[in-house]
Amino acid sequence: MNFELTEEQLAVREAAADFAQQVCKPGVIERDTTMAYPTDQVKQLGELGFMGMTVSPDYGGSGLDYLSYVLALEEISKVDNSCSVIMSVNNSLVCYGIETYGTEEQKQKYLTKLATGEWIGSFCLSEPEAGSDATHQRTTAEDKGDHYLLNGTKNWITSGGTSQVHLVIAQSNPEAGHRGINAFIVETGWDGVEIGAKEDKLGIRSSDTHTIMYNNVRVPKENRIGDDGFGFKFAMKTLAGGRIGIAAQALGIAGGAYELAVAYAKEREAFGKPIANHQAIAFKLADMATDIEAAKMLVYRAAWLKETGGDYDQAGAMAKLFASSVAMKHTVEAVQVHGGYGFVKEYHVERLMRDAKITQIYEGTSEVQKIVISRGLLKGELYV
Ligand code: CAA
Repeated sequence: MNFELTEEQLAVREAAADFAQQVCKPGVIERDTTMAYPTDQVKQLGELGFMGMTVSPDYGGSGLDYLSYVLALEEISKVDNSCSVIMSVNNSLVCYGIETYGTEEQKQKYLTKLATGEWIGSFCLSEPEAGSDATHQRTTAEDKGDHYLLNGTKNWITSGGTSQVHLVIAQSNPEAGHRGINAFIVETGWDGVEIGAKEDKLGIRSSDTHTIMYNNVRVPKENRIGDDGFGFKFAMKTLAGGRIGIAAQALGIAGGAYELAVAYAKEREAFGKPIANHQAIAFKLADMATDIEAAKMLVYRAAWLKETGGDYDQAGAMAKLFASSVAMKHTVEAVQVHGGYGFVKEYHVERLMRDAKITQIYEGTSEVQKIVISRGLLKGELYV
């Protein structure tokens, strides 16, 4: 197996690492504390071509491969996970969803703005009573001939207060169950779109997460994505790729915490030598490095499968399941290595520990990933 990155992938990784240090790191603690949206950072991500990384240049994207995208997300997630989740949702869910399943008109009208970061997108599937159980959508989109009438409430919507475009999943024909669900492109400026309060969260605090209400929103027929009834499959297919992005975020969180822990352990002395030279700490660092390396293999493999047209549903679920648990476990360990300093904001690891938790929840909880993996296995799709 050849694990070497190409020149282009190395350059993307370096550019993202520089961006994280130069642009994201300044002010990251304050933005986390005050829940201030990273306006300048997101604007610059767009200018750098990071908001539509895999989108074709025909639609304003950077036309890069999926592994390059994952490498960029990983680097930015070492430093600022509010920026990386905004980037991940825009790239993996919104841009990918429209580019892969949208009409030419939809791509010209929406993708060209989303891929350049001029507009930001949100993915609106979760509801107060339909989280993991995504087939039971209460939001309705009633077919009125030339338009649909959209009504309902979505929650936990990333970029909910700042995005210009929502991809909304809604039920058009309850009798058909999940085959009656549709996906729509909804502009947030349309009448009837109401943005609810911003959530005060444990982690990724400077990304804006909102509840959204749709009250008799008229959605033109041409804004439906795919054939009538394709919405649930659209959501599942899109989320399968999105999970690779979140896995990359988790990998970055673990890597960021590990790098901070190593630097601190080499510098901090106790009992006459750097704490890195005490086995109690050295063994922790060894466990971290080993688990991060294993997570990296799963994440990069899933990205490679996606890039090369393989079946990545299971691989992405495995990558997210494992990388998010590595992120959670080892950010806790990184705080421990820092001792009391790990418990204060200035040293960054407590924020990474708080950010890690959401990677086990959004775009499907760890339990959902196990459903996806085990169903594939039981269907005979053995992972080899
Ligand atoms: N690709 C294509 N089709 C798929 C699919 C996939 N990956 N997964 C499922 N489907 C299809 C199935 O084939 C089935 O279709 P048929 O009946 O025609 O064969 C249909 O979808 C229903 O599938 P299931 O019977 O497997 O559905 P289920 O109700 O048992 O649940 C689930 C499956 C995996 C639990 C799913 O509901 C799920 O993924 N839930 C979690 C939802 C989620 O991830 N939410 C995240 C919100 S978005 C977010 O977090 C964004 C953000 O802002 C950060």
